[in-house]
Amino acid sequence: MENPFVYGQSVLGDAFTDRRREIDYLFHELQSSARIFLISPRRYGKSSLLQVVKQKLVQDGLLVAYVDLYKIASMNQFADAYASAILNAADTKIERAIKAVLEMLVRLRPKIAIESTGVASVTLDYSFQSKETWQELEEVYQLPERIARKKGTRFVVMLDEFQEASIIGGDVLEKQLRAVVQTHTEVSYVFAGSKRHLLYEMVHDEKRPFYRMGEIFNLGKIPESEMADFVLDRFSRTGYKVELSTVEQIINKMRNIPYNVQLLCHRLWAQTRDRKVITDEDVALAIRSLVYTYEAIFGELWDNLTVYQKRLLRAIALSKGRNLFSSEVIVRYGLETSSSVSKGLSLLQKKNLIERHDDHYEFNDIFFERWILERG
Ligand SMILES: Nc1ncnc2c1ncn2[C@@H]1O[C@H](COP(=O)(O)OP(=O)(O)OP(=O)(O)O)[C@@H](O)[C@H]1O
Ligand SMILES: [Mg+2]
Repeated sequence: MENPFVYGQSVLGDAFTDRRREIDYLFHELQSSARIFLISPRRYGKSSLLQVVKQKLVQDGLLVAYVDLYKIASMNQFADAYASAILNAADTKIERAIKAVLEMLVRLRPKIAIESTGVASVTLDYSFQSKETWQELEEVYQLPERIARKKGTRFVVMLDEFQEASIIGGDVLEKQLRAVVQTHTEVSYVFAGSKRHLLYEMVHDEKRPFYRMGEIFNLGKIPESEMADFVLDRFSRTGYKVELSTVEQIINKMRNIPYNVQLLCHRLWAQTRDRKVITDEDVALAIRSLVYTYEAIFGELWDNLTVYQKRLLRAIALSKGRNLFSSEVIVRYGLETSSSVSKGLSLLQKKNLIERHDDHYEFNDIFFERWILERG
Protein backbone atom coordinates (compact mmCIF):
# COMPACT_ATOMS: atom_id res chain seq x y z
CA MET A 1 0.00 0.00 0.00
CA GLU A 2 1.26 3.43 -0.88
CA ASN A 3 1.96 6.03 1.77
CA PRO A 4 -1.02 8.43 1.61
CA PHE A 5 0.98 11.44 2.79
CA VAL A 6 2.80 13.43 0.14
CA TYR A 7 5.29 16.23 0.61
CA GLY A 8 8.01 18.01 -1.33
CA GLN A 9 5.98 18.46 -4.49
CA SER A 10 2.81 20.22 -5.52
CA VAL A 11 -0.19 18.24 -4.36
CA LEU A 12 -3.36 17.90 -6.39
CA GLY A 13 -6.60 15.99 -6.30
CA ASP A 14 -7.42 14.31 -3.03
CA ALA A 15 -3.91 14.85 -1.66
CA PHE A 16 -4.92 18.51 -1.48
CA THR A 17 -7.29 19.67 1.22
CA ASP A 18 -9.44 22.71 1.85
CA ARG A 19 -8.42 26.13 0.50
CA ARG A 20 -11.97 26.49 -0.79
CA ARG A 21 -12.12 30.20 -0.07
CA GLU A 22 -8.73 30.86 -1.63
CA ILE A 23 -9.52 28.80 -4.73
CA ASP A 24 -12.79 30.61 -5.12
CA TYR A 25 -11.22 34.02 -4.74
CA LEU A 26 -8.39 33.40 -7.22
CA PHE A 27 -10.67 31.64 -9.67
CA HIS A 28 -13.06 34.58 -9.82
CA GLU A 29 -10.48 37.36 -9.72
CA LEU A 30 -8.49 35.84 -12.56
CA GLN A 31 -11.54 35.66 -14.85
CA SER A 32 -11.19 39.40 -15.34
CA SER A 33 -8.17 41.65 -15.53
CA ALA A 34 -6.19 41.03 -12.33
CA ARG A 35 -2.65 41.17 -11.05
CA ILE A 36 -2.22 39.32 -7.81
CA PHE A 37 0.82 38.87 -5.62
CA LEU A 38 0.32 35.56 -3.81
CA ILE A 39 2.55 35.58 -0.78
CA SER A 40 3.16 33.22 2.15
CA PRO A 41 6.03 31.83 4.15
CA ARG A 42 7.68 28.77 2.66
CA ARG A 43 5.74 25.54 2.34
CA TYR A 44 2.26 26.81 3.07
CA GLY A 45 1.02 25.50 -0.25
CA LYS A 46 1.26 28.32 -2.82
CA SER A 47 2.42 26.17 -5.72
CA SER A 48 -0.18 23.49 -5.00
CA LEU A 49 -2.90 26.11 -4.78
CA LEU A 50 -1.82 27.54 -8.12
CA GLN A 51 -1.94 24.10 -9.75
CA VAL A 52 -5.44 23.51 -8.43
CA VAL A 53 -6.62 26.94 -9.59
CA LYS A 54 -4.95 26.36 -12.94
CA GLN A 55 -6.84 23.11 -13.41
CA LYS A 56 -10.11 24.80 -12.60
CA LEU A 57 -9.47 27.72 -14.95
CA VAL A 58 -8.48 25.41 -17.79
CA GLN A 59 -11.66 23.39 -17.25
CA ASP A 60 -13.51 26.67 -17.54
CA GLY A 61 -11.93 27.30 -20.94
CA LEU A 62 -9.19 29.78 -20.03
CA LEU A 63 -5.59 29.52 -21.20
CA VAL A 64 -3.18 29.17 -18.30
CA ALA A 65 0.63 29.24 -18.31
CA TYR A 66 2.67 28.41 -15.22
CA VAL A 67 6.37 29.25 -14.91
CA ASP A 68 8.52 28.42 -11.90
CA LEU A 69 11.38 30.91 -11.69
CA TYR A 70 13.19 28.92 -9.06
CA LYS A 71 14.80 26.62 -11.58
CA ILE A 72 15.88 29.45 -13.85
CA ALA A 73 19.36 30.93 -13.78
CA SER A 74 19.60 33.32 -16.73
CA MET A 75 17.62 35.62 -19.01
CA ASN A 76 17.96 33.10 -21.84
CA GLN A 77 16.48 30.35 -19.74
CA PHE A 78 13.73 32.65 -18.55
CA ALA A 79 12.76 33.64 -22.08
CA ASP A 80 12.75 30.01 -23.22
CA ALA A 81 10.74 28.85 -20.21
CA TYR A 82 8.26 31.71 -20.60
CA ALA A 83 7.74 31.07 -24.29
CA SER A 84 7.45 27.31 -23.63
CA ALA A 85 4.82 27.78 -20.94
CA ILE A 86 2.77 30.10 -23.14
CA LEU A 87 3.08 27.71 -26.06
CA ASN A 88 1.88 24.74 -24.03
CA ALA A 89 -1.07 26.71 -22.74
CA ALA A 90 -2.03 28.33 -26.04
CA ASP A 91 -4.11 25.62 -27.61
CA THR A 92 -5.31 22.10 -26.96
CA LYS A 93 -3.91 21.22 -30.36
CA ILE A 94 -0.15 21.55 -30.04
CA GLU A 95 0.31 21.92 -33.81
CA ARG A 96 -1.95 24.96 -33.85
CA ALA A 97 -0.17 26.41 -30.84
CA ILE A 98 3.22 25.94 -32.48
CA LYS A 99 2.02 27.59 -35.66
CA ALA A 100 0.76 30.62 -33.75
CA VAL A 101 3.94 30.97 -31.71
CA LEU A 102 6.19 30.61 -34.75
CA GLU A 103 4.26 33.38 -36.46
CA MET A 104 4.47 35.69 -33.47
CA LEU A 105 8.12 35.16 -32.65
CA VAL A 106 9.65 35.29 -36.13
CA ARG A 107 12.42 37.62 -35.16
CA LEU A 108 13.62 35.32 -32.41
CA ARG A 109 13.78 32.27 -34.73
CA PRO A 110 12.38 29.81 -32.20
CA LYS A 111 13.22 26.13 -32.36
CA ILE A 112 10.46 23.96 -30.98
CA ALA A 113 10.85 20.39 -29.81
CA ILE A 114 8.09 18.11 -28.60
CA GLU A 115 9.16 15.81 -25.79
CA SER A 116 7.91 12.25 -25.39
CA THR A 117 5.48 13.52 -22.74
CA GLY A 118 3.80 15.66 -25.39
CA VAL A 119 5.08 18.87 -23.80
CA ALA A 120 6.69 21.31 -26.21
CA SER A 121 9.78 23.34 -25.41
CA VAL A 122 10.98 26.48 -27.11
CA THR A 123 14.60 27.51 -27.59
CA LEU A 124 15.14 30.99 -28.90
CA ASP A 125 18.01 31.71 -31.21
CA TYR A 126 19.35 34.56 -29.25
CA SER A 127 22.21 35.92 -27.30
CA PHE A 128 21.33 38.30 -24.53
CA GLN A 129 24.50 40.31 -24.62
CA SER A 130 23.38 43.91 -24.51
CA LYS A 131 20.40 45.83 -23.30
CA GLU A 132 19.33 46.47 -26.90
CA THR A 133 19.08 42.81 -27.73
CA TRP A 134 17.18 42.19 -24.51
CA GLN A 135 14.49 44.48 -25.84
CA GLU A 136 13.63 41.89 -28.45
CA LEU A 137 12.31 39.82 -25.60
CA GLU A 138 9.27 42.06 -25.60
CA GLU A 139 7.90 39.78 -28.31
CA VAL A 140 7.93 36.94 -25.82
CA TYR A 141 6.15 38.92 -23.11
CA GLN A 142 3.52 40.05 -25.62
CA LEU A 143 2.67 36.48 -26.59
CA PRO A 144 -0.15 35.84 -24.09
CA GLU A 145 -1.96 39.09 -24.93
CA ARG A 146 -1.69 38.50 -28.67
CA ILE A 147 -2.87 34.91 -28.38
CA ALA A 148 -5.70 35.87 -26.04
CA ARG A 149 -6.92 38.50 -28.50
CA LYS A 150 -6.64 36.20 -31.46
CA LYS A 151 -8.60 33.46 -29.75
CA GLY A 152 -10.98 35.66 -27.81
CA THR A 153 -10.06 33.80 -24.62
CA ARG A 154 -8.53 35.20 -21.44
CA PHE A 155 -4.96 34.15 -20.68
CA VAL A 156 -3.67 33.68 -17.13
CA VAL A 157 0.08 33.76 -16.50
CA MET A 158 1.35 32.40 -13.18
CA LEU A 159 4.92 33.27 -12.23
CA ASP A 160 5.97 31.26 -9.20
CA GLU A 161 8.95 32.27 -7.03
CA PHE A 162 8.71 35.67 -8.67
CA GLN A 163 11.18 37.31 -6.29
CA GLU A 164 13.87 35.48 -8.30
CA ALA A 165 13.22 37.84 -11.23
CA SER A 166 15.65 40.38 -9.84
CA ILE A 167 18.33 37.72 -9.45
CA ILE A 168 17.78 36.38 -12.96
CA GLY A 169 17.67 39.67 -14.79
CA GLY A 170 18.29 42.47 -12.32
CA ASP A 171 16.21 45.56 -12.71
CA VAL A 172 16.03 45.04 -16.46
CA LEU A 173 13.75 42.02 -16.37
CA GLU A 174 11.42 43.66 -13.86
CA LYS A 175 11.26 46.85 -15.91
CA GLN A 176 10.61 45.02 -19.16
CA LEU A 177 7.91 42.87 -17.67
CA ARG A 178 6.23 45.82 -16.06
CA ALA A 179 6.21 47.86 -19.24
CA VAL A 180 4.47 45.05 -21.10
CA VAL A 181 2.24 43.69 -18.36
CA GLN A 182 0.60 47.01 -17.62
CA THR A 183 -0.65 47.34 -21.20
CA HIS A 184 -2.32 43.93 -21.18
CA THR A 185 -6.09 43.82 -20.91
CA GLU A 186 -6.70 40.18 -21.81
CA VAL A 187 -4.12 38.61 -19.52
CA SER A 188 -4.30 38.17 -15.75
CA TYR A 189 -1.17 37.62 -13.76
CA VAL A 190 -0.27 35.88 -10.53
CA PHE A 191 3.13 36.61 -9.04
CA ALA A 192 3.80 34.14 -6.25
CA GLY A 193 6.64 33.84 -3.81
CA SER A 194 7.82 32.93 -0.37
CA LYS A 195 10.50 35.54 0.25
CA ARG A 196 8.00 37.91 1.68
CA HIS A 197 10.27 40.81 2.40
CA LEU A 198 11.59 40.75 -1.19
CA LEU A 199 8.11 40.67 -2.66
CA TYR A 200 6.80 43.38 -0.36
CA GLU A 201 9.78 45.51 -1.35
CA MET A 202 8.98 44.91 -4.99
CA VAL A 203 5.40 46.11 -4.59
CA HIS A 204 5.77 48.78 -1.92
CA ASP A 205 9.00 50.51 -2.90
CA GLU A 206 8.19 53.36 -5.25
CA LYS A 207 11.59 53.11 -6.89
CA ARG A 208 10.92 49.57 -8.04
CA PRO A 209 9.24 48.78 -11.37
CA PHE A 210 6.50 46.66 -9.78
CA TYR A 211 5.46 49.40 -7.38
CA ARG A 212 1.68 49.15 -6.90
CA MET A 213 1.39 46.74 -9.79
CA GLY A 214 -1.18 44.57 -8.12
CA GLU A 215 -2.81 43.55 -4.92
CA ILE A 216 -1.22 41.39 -2.30
CA PHE A 217 -2.95 38.19 -1.30
CA ASN A 218 -1.49 36.65 1.83
CA LEU A 219 -1.97 32.91 2.00
CA GLY A 220 -2.49 31.77 5.59
CA LYS A 221 -2.59 28.36 7.16
CA ILE A 222 -5.26 25.74 6.63
CA PRO A 223 -7.73 25.77 9.57
CA GLU A 224 -6.63 23.25 12.18
CA SER A 225 -9.88 21.33 12.19
CA GLU A 226 -9.70 20.87 8.40
CA MET A 227 -6.15 19.67 8.66
CA ALA A 228 -7.09 17.26 11.45
CA ASP A 229 -9.95 15.80 9.38
CA PHE A 230 -7.59 15.39 6.46
CA VAL A 231 -4.96 13.57 8.53
CA LEU A 232 -7.51 11.36 10.33
CA ASP A 233 -9.12 10.41 7.06
CA ARG A 234 -5.84 9.42 5.41
CA PHE A 235 -4.80 7.27 8.36
CA SER A 236 -8.14 5.57 8.80
CA ARG A 237 -8.58 4.95 5.09
CA THR A 238 -5.35 2.96 5.11
CA GLY A 239 -6.35 0.97 8.21
CA TYR A 240 -4.43 2.95 10.86
CA LYS A 241 -5.70 3.80 14.32
CA VAL A 242 -4.98 7.21 15.77
CA GLU A 243 -6.72 9.36 18.37
CA LEU A 244 -7.89 12.87 17.53
CA SER A 245 -5.76 14.21 20.39
CA THR A 246 -2.65 12.67 18.84
CA VAL A 247 -3.48 14.21 15.48
CA GLU A 248 -3.96 17.56 17.17
CA GLN A 249 -0.56 17.15 18.72
CA ILE A 250 0.99 16.42 15.33
CA ILE A 251 -0.56 19.55 13.86
CA ASN A 252 0.42 21.61 16.84
CA LYS A 253 4.04 20.47 16.92
CA MET A 254 4.32 21.05 13.19
CA ARG A 255 2.80 24.54 13.68
CA ASN A 256 0.14 23.51 11.23
CA ILE A 257 2.44 24.13 8.28
CA PRO A 258 1.04 21.85 5.55
CA TYR A 259 4.44 20.58 4.40
CA ASN A 260 5.55 19.71 7.92
CA VAL A 261 2.31 17.99 8.80
CA GLN A 262 2.51 15.82 5.69
CA LEU A 263 6.20 15.12 6.26
CA LEU A 264 5.68 13.97 9.84
CA CYS A 265 2.61 11.91 8.96
CA HIS A 266 4.52 10.30 6.10
CA ARG A 267 7.23 9.27 8.53
CA LEU A 268 4.72 8.07 11.15
CA TRP A 269 2.82 6.04 8.61
CA ALA A 270 6.01 4.33 7.45
CA GLN A 271 7.31 3.80 10.97
CA THR A 272 4.21 2.03 12.28
CA ARG A 273 3.39 0.05 9.19
CA ASP A 274 3.50 -3.31 11.00
CA ARG A 275 1.12 -2.41 13.83
CA LYS A 276 -0.87 0.46 12.33
CA VAL A 277 -1.45 2.20 15.65
CA ILE A 278 -0.04 5.66 16.32
CA THR A 279 0.59 6.91 19.83
CA ASP A 280 1.97 10.14 21.28
CA GLU A 281 5.30 8.36 21.83
CA ASP A 282 5.44 7.51 18.13
CA VAL A 283 5.01 11.19 17.35
CA ALA A 284 7.89 12.18 19.61
CA LEU A 285 10.06 9.43 18.12
CA ALA A 286 9.28 10.40 14.54
CA ILE A 287 10.13 14.05 15.20
CA ARG A 288 13.44 13.02 16.70
CA SER A 289 14.21 10.77 13.77
CA LEU A 290 13.41 13.59 11.33
CA VAL A 291 15.75 15.99 13.12
CA TYR A 292 18.40 13.29 12.93
CA THR A 293 17.82 12.85 9.18
CA TYR A 294 18.78 16.47 8.59
CA GLU A 295 21.72 16.46 10.99
CA ALA A 296 24.37 16.82 8.25
CA ILE A 297 22.59 19.71 6.55
CA PHE A 298 21.99 21.57 9.81
CA GLY A 299 25.57 21.02 10.92
CA GLU A 300 26.92 22.58 7.77
CA LEU A 301 24.44 25.44 7.93
CA TRP A 302 25.46 26.11 11.53
CA ASP A 303 29.18 26.06 10.78
CA ASN A 304 28.70 28.76 8.18
CA LEU A 305 27.11 31.21 10.60
CA THR A 306 28.92 33.87 12.60
CA VAL A 307 29.04 33.62 16.37
CA TYR A 308 26.53 36.45 16.66
CA GLN A 309 24.10 34.83 14.23
CA LYS A 310 24.27 31.59 16.21
CA ARG A 311 23.57 33.46 19.41
CA LEU A 312 20.63 35.26 17.85
CA LEU A 313 19.17 32.03 16.46
CA ARG A 314 19.41 30.40 19.89
CA ALA A 315 17.71 33.43 21.41
CA ILE A 316 14.89 33.16 18.87
CA ALA A 317 14.49 29.43 19.55
CA LEU A 318 14.49 29.88 23.33
CA SER A 319 12.30 32.97 23.47
CA LYS A 320 9.92 31.73 20.75
CA GLY A 321 10.95 34.74 18.70
CA ARG A 322 9.30 37.21 21.06
CA ASN A 323 10.54 40.39 22.74
CA LEU A 324 13.90 40.17 21.00
CA PHE A 325 14.48 43.89 21.47
CA SER A 326 13.76 43.91 25.18
CA SER A 327 16.77 44.58 27.38
CA GLU A 328 16.02 41.39 29.29
CA VAL A 329 16.39 39.20 26.19
CA ILE A 330 19.36 41.24 24.93
CA VAL A 331 21.21 40.76 28.21
CA ARG A 332 20.22 37.14 28.70
CA TYR A 333 21.51 36.02 25.30
CA GLY A 334 24.35 38.50 24.89
CA LEU A 335 22.83 40.27 21.90
CA GLU A 336 24.73 43.52 22.53
CA THR A 337 22.44 46.34 21.34
CA SER A 338 19.02 46.59 19.77
CA SER A 339 20.57 47.82 16.55
CA SER A 340 22.74 44.66 16.40
CA VAL A 341 19.57 42.63 16.90
CA SER A 342 17.86 44.50 14.11
CA LYS A 343 20.80 43.99 11.72
CA GLY A 344 21.12 40.36 12.70
CA LEU A 345 17.43 39.68 12.15
CA SER A 346 17.46 41.18 8.73
CA LEU A 347 20.52 39.11 7.76
CA LEU A 348 18.93 35.91 9.01
CA GLN A 349 15.84 36.75 6.97
CA LYS A 350 17.98 37.29 3.89
CA LYS A 351 19.50 33.89 4.53
CA ASN A 352 15.94 32.58 4.59
CA LEU A 353 16.36 31.06 8.03
CA ILE A 354 13.67 33.06 9.79
CA GLU A 355 10.56 35.03 8.89
CA ARG A 356 8.88 37.85 10.64
CA HIS A 357 5.29 37.17 11.65
CA ASP A 358 3.00 39.86 13.06
CA ASP A 359 4.59 40.27 16.46
CA HIS A 360 7.36 37.70 16.52
CA TYR A 361 9.97 35.85 14.48
CA GLU A 362 9.74 32.20 13.46
CA PHE A 363 12.18 29.68 12.07
CA ASN A 364 11.38 28.72 8.49
CA ASP A 365 12.42 25.20 9.31
CA ILE A 366 11.06 23.98 12.62
CA PHE A 367 13.38 20.97 12.53
CA PHE A 368 16.37 23.31 12.47
CA GLU A 369 14.92 25.06 15.49
CA ARG A 370 14.56 21.74 17.32
CA TRP A 371 18.08 20.78 16.34
CA ILE A 372 19.41 24.01 17.85
CA LEU A 373 17.41 23.48 21.04
CA GLU A 374 18.68 19.93 21.36
CA ARG A 375 22.29 21.10 21.12
CA GLY A 376 21.67 23.09 24.28
N1 LIG B 1 -3.97 22.20 0.50
C1 LIG B 1 -3.09 21.28 0.92
N2 LIG B 1 -3.51 20.10 1.44
C2 LIG B 1 -2.64 19.18 1.89
N3 LIG B 1 -1.30 19.34 1.87
C3 LIG B 1 -0.83 20.48 1.36
C4 LIG B 1 -1.68 21.51 0.85
N4 LIG B 1 -0.92 22.52 0.41
C5 LIG B 1 0.36 22.15 0.64
N5 LIG B 1 0.43 20.93 1.19
C6 LIG B 1 1.65 20.21 1.61
O1 LIG B 1 2.71 21.15 1.65
C7 LIG B 1 3.75 20.79 0.71
C8 LIG B 1 4.30 22.04 0.10
O2 LIG B 1 3.33 22.62 -0.75
P1 LIG B 1 3.72 23.62 -1.92
O3 LIG B 1 4.93 23.16 -2.60
O4 LIG B 1 2.48 23.85 -2.69
O5 LIG B 1 4.04 24.90 -1.01
P2 LIG B 1 4.76 26.25 -1.43
O6 LIG B 1 4.16 27.32 -0.57
O7 LIG B 1 4.73 26.43 -2.88
O8 LIG B 1 6.23 25.91 -0.92
P3 LIG B 1 7.61 26.65 -1.30
O9 LIG B 1 7.65 27.87 -0.48
O10 LIG B 1 8.64 25.65 -0.89
O11 LIG B 1 7.59 26.91 -2.76
C9 LIG B 1 3.08 19.84 -0.26
O12 LIG B 1 4.03 18.94 -0.81
C10 LIG B 1 2.09 19.14 0.63
O13 LIG B 1 2.74 18.12 1.37
MG1 LIG C 1 6.26 26.70 -4.26
